[in-house]
Amino acid sequence: MTDGDQKLAEIEGRAKVAIEGAASFPDLEQAKAPFVGRKGELQALFRIIPTLPADERGTFGKRINALKEAVEGFVQARSAALRAAQLELELAENAIDVTLPGRPQATCPPHPLTATLEEIESVFRSMGFAVAEGPEVEWEALNFDALNFPPNHPARDMQDTFFVDSGGTGPQVLRTHTSPVQIRTMLQHDPPVRIICPGRVYRSETQDASHSAVFHQVEGLMVGEGVSFAQLKGVLQHVVTELFGTDELRFRPSYFPFTEPSAEVDMRWKMADGRDRWLEILGCGMVDPEVFKAVGYPAEVTGWAFGMGVERMAMLRHGVDDIRHFFSGDLRFLRQFAGVDAR
Ligand code: DAH
Repeated sequence: MTDGDQKLAEIEGRAKVAIEGAASFPDLEQAKAPFVGRKGELQALFRIIPTLPADERGTFGKRINALKEAVEGFVQARSAALRAAQLELELAENAIDVTLPGRPQATCPPHPLTATLEEIESVFRSMGFAVAEGPEVEWEALNFDALNFPPNHPARDMQDTFFVDSGGTGPQVLRTHTSPVQIRTMLQHDPPVRIICPGRVYRSETQDASHSAVFHQVEGLMVGEGVSFAQLKGVLQHVVTELFGTDELRFRPSYFPFTEPSAEVDMRWKMADGRDRWLEILGCGMVDPEVFKAVGYPAEVTGWAFGMGVERMAMLRHGVDDIRHFFSGDLRFLRQFAGVDAR
């Protein structure tokens, strides 16, 4: 081995030790600079070349190049090792322990109004009724006129209407009942019709335990040839049996502008104190011919309709004593309904 060879081997050895000892990327920069940097030992060796005899320059140059490659190899290997170590550290820091038990998510059963409404819908769907919907801001003409409320008749006040400033497109109201959906449906479909219309309704009422300015109704409508009051009784009896487990109903004569004859229906119900009482649950009747005239239906058809309050149904089913609970959003109230079956 020549002196030159020895010198190169010695440099390579020092470079290897220095580079492999670097504990970080900044360390590595510092460790390699004395060898491959601009002022490093290898540059100094390259600068010797022109001073050598011409026939030695080539061999010497090749050796320095080989040394340079070796040093660069050390740097690359060290840098890869540092990167791998860094990655391992990051993985360890972000590690997920898949054996930990899951965190329980807060859940709540469906709102009792939603649950009641869904059950009402499912009973009617099983009898072939479709679900129809309409807007909550309604034309006064559909909320009242088409339903045979005479103009300026006190019946319009009876429902404590919220009138809407509609800017000249025609008088609008927050619908006071779901009955206008009957009208919308009959204007769009020829008979026969078999629908229920669930939805939110509004009345300017002072809130108390049994009144809310916003509440929900389900309207029912069946129209066709030979549709009778007897069928209405049968349908309601079935629905009440499904929802409450009783078919003890009482029909009392009543008045609605859009039905003739009209009735209010009471259900025999055992109260919390154990005593039985008759409780009003809905209004109904045979659709007034004036209503059919308003939607352009032929004179031969007959039909029945009913309207029930969803809050009232839910209060009876669950023994809730104040309608305001439904709108409080209070989880202590809502959580009580987990898995409740009214019967
Ligand atoms: N729309 C009535 C109300 O809100 C309820 C009602 C009664 C609806 C009789 C009907 C019906 O369809 O036939 O007070």
